[in-house]
Amino acid sequence: MSEPLVLGIETSCDETGIGIVRGRTLLSNTIASSMDEHARYGGVIPEVAARAHLEALQPSIEAALAEAQVSLSDLDAIAVTSGPGLAGALMVGVGAAKGLAVSLGKPLYAVNHLVGHIAADIVTPDSDPLEYPTIALLVSGGHTSLLHVRDLTTDVELLGETMDDAAGEAFDKVARLLSLPYPGGPEIDRAAADGDPKAIRFPRGLSKAPDLVKHRYDFSFSGLKTAVARWVERCEASGEEVPVADVAASFREAVVDVLVTKALAACADLGVPRLLLGGGVIANKRLRDVAIERAAVAGVTVRIPPLSLCTDNGAMIAALAADLISSGRRPSTLAFGADSTLPV
Ligand code: KG4
Ligand code: ZN
Repeated sequence: MSEPLVLGIETSCDETGIGIVRGRTLLSNTIASSMDEHARYGGVIPEVAARAHLEALQPSIEAALAEAQVSLSDLDAIAVTSGPGLAGALMVGVGAAKGLAVSLGKPLYAVNHLVGHIAADIVTPDSDPLEYPTIALLVSGGHTSLLHVRDLTTDVELLGETMDDAAGEAFDKVARLLSLPYPGGPEIDRAAADGDPKAIRFPRGLSKAPDLVKHRYDFSFSGLKTAVARWVERCEASGEEVPVADVAASFREAVVDVLVTKALAACADLGVPRLLLGGGVIANKRLRDVAIERAAVAGVTVRIPPLSLCTDNGAMIAALAADLISSGRRPSTLAFGADSTLPV
């Protein structure tokens, strides 16, 4: 089979993503988000996300098929994210994928969500082929991971990840401390526009010399969040107005600095002159700008898929499965389940 037609299902967090690809060609990418339903809680509520997937799956599949102008019987395979992610949310997608595969008599491919984020690059229209090896920095509300990609389908190594909050989660929590609405990333970004990023020197997690021995490629944002909380408390206790713009700009700078520093350290250590960015936090222009600027100085080229492929989506899942099929990988048996901590 040269160019397999694959439908991918992504339900690991709060986006119901259905994507259809033919090989590496993107035919449709339908994303329904339950983010608005989580807004009043200030973060994703797993039970709410799972129910929303149940409601969104059927219409999303129909919309994706219509946009791609294909029917279920045309498909060569079904792909689904089996982990990592929220267990209940994953189960909805895995159940739907198994049902579809069995009823249609089509092969089923269970894929890893993080590796899927890397596959966002290969399905980006008009992009040059992904070169190996590449370092991938994936930052979203659910994960902050650094990976060494030697081959998308056979050789992806997790170098490090967050020890506590994901970067996007830190944006969301700090926004709450500053009385800004959810999701916090765009709000902090807006507030930071008028602030001085050097006004407050917030901590860069796991960046001190002893941490760099064991946690060179790991991240931690809980200390940073606590530092912002203490700053806000001190202002309030002394009756001063919280300098929201300066706090937002200084916080964003701390997150961006540590993400870019560690990603480029991995590039330098491993002699890899390529960096791929992915995940919803890539919407942050300061992160993109600093990464591009500092990478250029280090002789590293940066690839950033369009935001619709950086946030969670089904096209990246379908594209990964299409590459697996083309490389001769056999389908998954029905024995797999949702695995919230699935390793790379
Ligand atoms: O990948 P994504 O859309 O969804 C999941 O994590 O499932 O990422 C959403 C995260 C949220 O935490 C949101 O606050 C963050 O990405 N985000 C941003 C920006 N836009 C969204 N973080 C920083 N700056 C932004 N401009
Ligand atoms: Zn993701």
